[in-house]
Amino acid sequence: MKIISCIEELRAHLQGQLRTAFVPTMGNLHEGHLSLMRLARKHGDPVVASIFVNRLQFGPNEDFDKYPRTFQADVEKLEKEGVYILFAPTEKDLYPEPQEYRVQPPDDLGNILEGEFRPGFFTGVTTVVLKLFSCVQPRVAVFGKKDYQQLMIVRNMAKQFALPTEIIAAETWRAEDGLALSSRNGYLSEAERAEAPALFRQLNIVADEVRNGHLDVFELERKAMADLAARGWKPDYISIRKQSNLQPPSAGDMAQGEKLVVVAAAKLGKTRLIDNLEI
Ligand code: PAJ
Repeated sequence: MKIISCIEELRAHLQGQLRTAFVPTMGNLHEGHLSLMRLARKHGDPVVASIFVNRLQFGPNEDFDKYPRTFQADVEKLEKEGVYILFAPTEKDLYPEPQEYRVQPPDDLGNILEGEFRPGFFTGVTTVVLKLFSCVQPRVAVFGKKDYQQLMIVRNMAKQFALPTEIIAAETWRAEDGLALSSRNGYLSEAERAEAPALFRQLNIVADEVRNGHLDVFELERKAMADLAARGWKPDYISIRKQSNLQPPSAGDMAQGEKLVVVAAAKLGKTRLIDNLEI
């Protein structure tokens, strides 16, 4: 595996490649990330991964400085997955001057749910993803459903900018007890780690209720948040949304069996976890 930090050098290595499959990450790789590498390999060749902790998508009070950086262990994992190039730019490589041009997602997608609780987050994500795409020029790029709203926003961006990159969705990789793998799980204490699967259990309860014909969305959301709060969590939202645009379903949508997803974010101690489940 070649490890490249310089954009020009990356371009030289990838010149003439028409089937590049790309997986952007912020490192601290776990099985969920590695499942994306495997899916990428099925959809193209060579596979290029990136590791870059993108300052633009962290709020002033978020965990940019303490975000886990485990570069050597990450390199070993990627080598085993047959990744051809690891693009690992420094901040100077990717942002040699302040990034003044930004990609701004539409308010009705970028400022709801995660965007409401993390102002500017999705602008930071789409800006770095567009820039990484411009460096790698992939034919396909793989994103996890774990970050459901991010996946949708990147997909819509690719469509609206007519990017030559197809966005492929990977299923959420979970621990045996249901907890979605995340770099932030490492912040959990032992007791919190034992409690953490309650979030996914709650999503399953909501999904089952909807499947069984419970149509009062607001009541289901309220109860799920109250149940988590009673267990010591601080839920930001548990929300039933339409898969198509992440807007709340109308009564008519519910009656007509519109495809739904239940999305959630909640804090356990100091750690903020997100998860979702398609219904
Ligand atoms: P990061 O959190 O490192 O995630 C990189 C990719 O791995 C994302 O597409 C994410 O959805 C996926 N992923 C994370 N956990 C997963 C799991 N348990 N199962 C399946 N996929 C999982 O998301 C980012 O980085 C950044 O926002 C990025 C897109 C790299 C832009 O900076």
